[in-house]
Amino acid sequence: VRRPIIAGNWKMYKTARETVEFFEQFKPLVKISHHCDIVIAAPFTVLVDAVKAAEGSNIAIAAQDLFWEAEGAYTGEISPLMLVDVGCRYTLVGHSERRQLFGETNQNVNKKIKAALSVNLTPIVCIGEMLEEREANQTQKVIQTQFLEGFAGLTAQAFSRIILAYEPVWAIGTGRTATPEIAGEVHEYIRGLADASFGQPGARNLRILYGGSVKPDNIKGLMAQAHVDGALVGGASLNADSFGSIVNF
Ligand code: 13P
Repeated sequence: VRRPIIAGNWKMYKTARETVEFFEQFKPLVKISHHCDIVIAAPFTVLVDAVKAAEGSNIAIAAQDLFWEAEGAYTGEISPLMLVDVGCRYTLVGHSERRQLFGETNQNVNKKIKAALSVNLTPIVCIGEMLEEREANQTQKVIQTQFLEGFAGLTAQAFSRIILAYEPVWAIGTGRTATPEIAGEVHEYIRGLADASFGQPGARNLRILYGGSVKPDNIKGLMAQAHVDGALVGGASLNADSFGSIVNF
């Protein structure tokens, strides 16, 4: 049995004060929610506040990105150890917004995954096709390339410490969520890729989250799919009540 994960991705939202207010409202709502792991990926500038606010709770904090070098002359970048230092336990890697807007490649994703694992940060690696790719029947090919290049050179042991998120780009921030069947189908395909590359029990234990317009009213249907092990929630994670209902699906 794979333990579900409900993760929020705040993207470029929330000041320190808004972060503290969110946790004040959110913590009581999930205090007795032991059926899943709860993660919030906050902006770099409020990671310290989020870790502090989440202290003693069942909520873990994630970064939204990282750089692969340990330290050096890399103006503006954040190292894996810096994230551990402020109390992060997870980091997103390869979010589609970073791929589309900031030139993130599968090769960079690969380096970031290895760097995160080297300091025991759990990478939540995002993959997913664009609308044109789905319409051109390229979904599996795109996912396969992201998977093979992103995870190149990993041992089965390293792979066992990774979480995957399938986020079809056409479903992100559009209100157009994938149907549970579409999500389930791609997740099953991804598990097959994991089996082909890393074998068992890695593939069977791999947790694959769905992301893209997840809301309180569609989470149940998505979670009912055999290969959907959780959600990566953008917009609906900004509000304590809506994220609370998603966690308590
Ligand atoms: P939305 O839930 O706002 O569609 O965002 C999904 C996402 O990108 C999570 O990483």
